[in-house]
Amino acid sequence: MTRRAQVVAVGTALPERRLTNADLEKMVDTNDEWIVSRTGIRERRVVEPGTPLSALAAPAAEECLRKAGVSAADIDGIICATITGDHVMPATANLVQDRIGATKAWAYDIANACNGFVAALATASAFVSSGGADRILVIGGDVMSSVVDYTDRNTCILFGDGAGAVLVEAGEGDNGIRGFKLGSDGSFGKLLSIPCSGSAMRPSDEAVAAGAHFLKQEGREVFQHAVRRMSQVATQLLEKLNLKADAIDLLVPHQANRRIIEPTARRLGLPMDKVVINIANVANTTGGTIPLALASAEADGRLTTGTRVMLVAFGGGFAWGACYLTWGRG
Ligand code: ACO
Repeated sequence: MTRRAQVVAVGTALPERRLTNADLEKMVDTNDEWIVSRTGIRERRVVEPGTPLSALAAPAAEECLRKAGVSAADIDGIICATITGDHVMPATANLVQDRIGATKAWAYDIANACNGFVAALATASAFVSSGGADRILVIGGDVMSSVVDYTDRNTCILFGDGAGAVLVEAGEGDNGIRGFKLGSDGSFGKLLSIPCSGSAMRPSDEAVAAGAHFLKQEGREVFQHAVRRMSQVATQLLEKLNLKADAIDLLVPHQANRRIIEPTARRLGLPMDKVVINIANVANTTGGTIPLALASAEADGRLTTGTRVMLVAFGGGFAWGACYLTWGRG
């Protein structure tokens, strides 16, 4: 029997508060028509200021464990993919470990921006398939409202807050993770960055006055790379696995922009009814987009045990990745 890393359940948590396009019209020079036609986004959820990521990550993890029928005490490890953790130290995964009572679990964060969830899933898969762990919680989430400049119309319309979690568990059936492909090109790091967020720039009154603690993006250039890299990495993964596009029942892409997702699907030769798009109501939650999209597909009845799924993401770094899996236990 082959030992596989199976993805057996997903849980999510979203803040109550909705920030609609109409709300943003009162904050910056924008309008609903522009935002919907350029991005597909109608509203996003945002936390009350000061609410940390762990306040979303812990309930998402708990919902995931409840759905999986697994106790927190039986988890071996927790990986949290985020760029807006509660702190640089301690890691948000450590805080979740304490909060949910995962007493025997090790825990750490992965910072890989919008590709963070795929990168964390790859790490968990390697642990579980090699016998290094039996159950790992993979959390993806961000409180993007903590790094978004709500006076910058180029970026503030794009992002929201939210978190999701999946349980990766050892199994010996046919389902499970079949393969990964990850990539990066650090030469484009400056096109999507938060300048004052680490050792490169010490926080100061000047840095804050210049808005250096906010996310900066060269949107048009990032857009072009995103379309190319997402379709390319998914194609490369299919080739590596010796599969064709008809082996994909569901494409679950990172939700940055509807106009990035549609050409990605087209280049893969997939009809839109095989693509999950939930960006209209939750926007880009960075580490959270893929688990939130998985949960929305499950709620619609499109993701069930045995569904063949391609996850694909692209984001700051640049970093990108794809994962092919068959959902559920069994
Ligand atoms: N409302 C109205 N007008 C706007 C707005 C707005 N909110 N934002 C920009 N505009 C204007 C611009 O100023 C520009 O005006 P100009 O032509 O007079 O200069 C015009 O609209 C067109 O701007 P573009 O940047 O060309 O618009 P584009 O169609 O490229 O859409 C967008 C911008 C939505 C940001 C798009 O480029 C995008 O989605 N980029 C990629 C985002 C992404 O994938 N990020 C990666 C993941 S994020 C992560 O890793 C954390």
